[in-house]
Amino acid sequence: MVTELTNPLVKNLINRLRSSHTDALRFRHIIGELSKLLAYEAFRESMLIEATVPTWNGNRSYGFIREEELVFVPILRAGLPMLESIMALLPEAMSGFLAMKRDESTHQSVLYYDRLPDCTGKTVVLLDPMVATGGSLCDALQVVKSKNPARIVSLNVIGSPEGLEVVKQKHPDITLYIAQIDKELDANKYILPGLGDAGDRAYNTPE
Ligand code: PRP
Ligand code: URA
Repeated sequence: MVTELTNPLVKNLINRLRSSHTDALRFRHIIGELSKLLAYEAFRESMLIEATVPTWNGNRSYGFIREEELVFVPILRAGLPMLESIMALLPEAMSGFLAMKRDESTHQSVLYYDRLPDCTGKTVVLLDPMVATGGSLCDALQVVKSKNPARIVSLNVIGSPEGLEVVKQKHPDITLYIAQIDKELDANKYILPGLGDAGDRAYNTPE
């Protein structure tokens, strides 16, 4: 299931990202803000479990999300600014890391770092701003599935229709929230109009 966010607040932030006047610091900040808005949608139906906490007028029972059942997994590099922001919302959750680099001639993703915890019975939330061909996300999903999670949610900022279709076909069992579905891919498999290379823009590396 793919859900695209429609709130104008989201579109306003997406379009600020598109501007090449947006420098790396602001780029990472906006990616972080969009991540919180994506999480707001993704956790809309989450169950609240009662727990007793000490308060100023004695022990009281209130509803909380089971943060210890969540594992946030950014796909480095571009997914990194999403992690800090989401962890500020749900600080008791665990994190795992995957690093992938798309080969710019074959457009295939290459996994170069895998530091995932055991995810048995957990909800894994994958974080990557870009879904272009969908190759990186599909490969990440395969790695995550080998860790036995109960459920997988993907939070993404911009995607192409063709990349999202590939993800839907290969992984129909996941839930994906995205801030913007753009028009298409160009000949080099970059999203149009897109943002350019999100990792390079976030970390000031040459394109
Ligand atoms: C970007 C992006 C995705 C991938 C999307 O990462 O963050 O992981 O490309 O492309 P795809 O859907 O065609 O696989 P990139 O490989 O540029 O690495 P980076 O984050 O280190 O810049
Ligand atoms: N990776 C990016 O960062 N941007 C694209 O448009 C495609 C892949």
